[in-house]
Amino acid sequence: MRVEITKSAYEKLKKFFPWVYKNEIIKAPDCNPGDVVDLIYKNEYVATAFFNPLSKISARVITFEKTHIDKEFFKERIKKAIKKRENLKSITNSYRLIHSEADFLPGLIVDRYGDYLVISVTTAGIENFKGIIVEILIDLLNPKGIYEKGDKIREKEGLEVISQKLYGEIEDEFVIIENNKKFLTNLITGQKTGFFLDQRKNRKIVGDYGNKKTLDLFANAGGFGIYANANFTKFVEISASACSLIEKNCELNNLKNYEIVKSDVFKFLEKEKETYDLIIIDPPAFAKNKNAKKGALKGWKYLIVNSLKLLEKDGYLALFSCSHSINQKDLLDLALSSSIIDGSYLEVVEFLKQDIDHPYILNIPNSLYLTGVLLRKF
Ligand SMILES: C[S@@+](CC[C@H](N)C(=O)[O-])C[C@H]1O[C@@H](n2cnc3c(N)ncnc32)[C@H](O)[C@@H]1O
Repeated sequence: MRVEITKSAYEKLKKFFPWVYKNEIIKAPDCNPGDVVDLIYKNEYVATAFFNPLSKISARVITFEKTHIDKEFFKERIKKAIKKRENLKSITNSYRLIHSEADFLPGLIVDRYGDYLVISVTTAGIENFKGIIVEILIDLLNPKGIYEKGDKIREKEGLEVISQKLYGEIEDEFVIIENNKKFLTNLITGQKTGFFLDQRKNRKIVGDYGNKKTLDLFANAGGFGIYANANFTKFVEISASACSLIEKNCELNNLKNYEIVKSDVFKFLEKEKETYDLIIIDPPAFAKNKNAKKGALKGWKYLIVNSLKLLEKDGYLALFSCSHSINQKDLLDLALSSSIIDGSYLEVVEFLKQDIDHPYILNIPNSLYLTGVLLRKF
């Protein structure tokens, strides 16, 4: 099947950008969601893509070379992605094996938790090949079990929200071992596919600055605070199930002096008076798109200004944004204007980003989705 695209789409594809939007389609045949099509510009083949007439992103490139999209094709791609992560095995038993477009498999996410795999399918194209992809994963990795988690994002492609076992047995409570730290996670009910694997490297970098008193805001399972292993750590988290995970993880890692506050961080900051020498702010994506950016910036400013008030001189502040709409430059601008209100200087100690099992491909700007910065106040 041939889908004709506009000049602007053609120019982006030439730089290996992998998406074609609805308004960049000139002519398409009657397609079912997820059909494999040839993208054509001025009668010339440009790429092979999954096509979905229901989605705003109408075509997602699978390959720029004319080839058969069959089991062998997926097997090669999956093998490459697995090989690329070999080095991580010495640090952790849990990491992302396949990261969608950044591993040239648009809409496929596979996370490894020891002998278990948790997968997430976000495009109709991958959904059509799910059966053979599961066969390949079993063949290459021999897992004990495969669980599928699919949230609301699937609805954009006409797919239903889903949570199901696909193969073998799944242990819902699983212990992640990462740089000798242990984290209990629930593979079925945990956020994302179970754990924030993308912050692994940052937990290590930022944790090394932990010293006397650490404040871990939006703590989830307590990763940053536990790595920091300070004389005293306060975790603030709104979700009750995440708070009970923090409690268990503190025990697993022999943290003795800590407090878990189940609260909205914004309300917590209104009242908090204690001071700290390491503060981590790792909120959920406040702005999922450009329109929500103004509100998100306001929220961020409040968080930084009020955290700086609680930060000792010579203390460290780590900021993370997991939304493409608030980028590293935004974080730096926010930090600068907040430091002026605080009357302090801020030194940039580290620029941070998602760990390498979540690849950032320069040709695919959206593949950089988690950015951060570690600052020192003086
Ligand atoms: C990006 S995750 C943090 C990940 C964590 N730092 C880690 O490395 O595993 C954001 C967390 O903030 C929590 N959260 C969301 N809104 C909140 C709020 N207003 N106050 C406190 N926690 C909140 C979520 O439940 C989630 O666990």
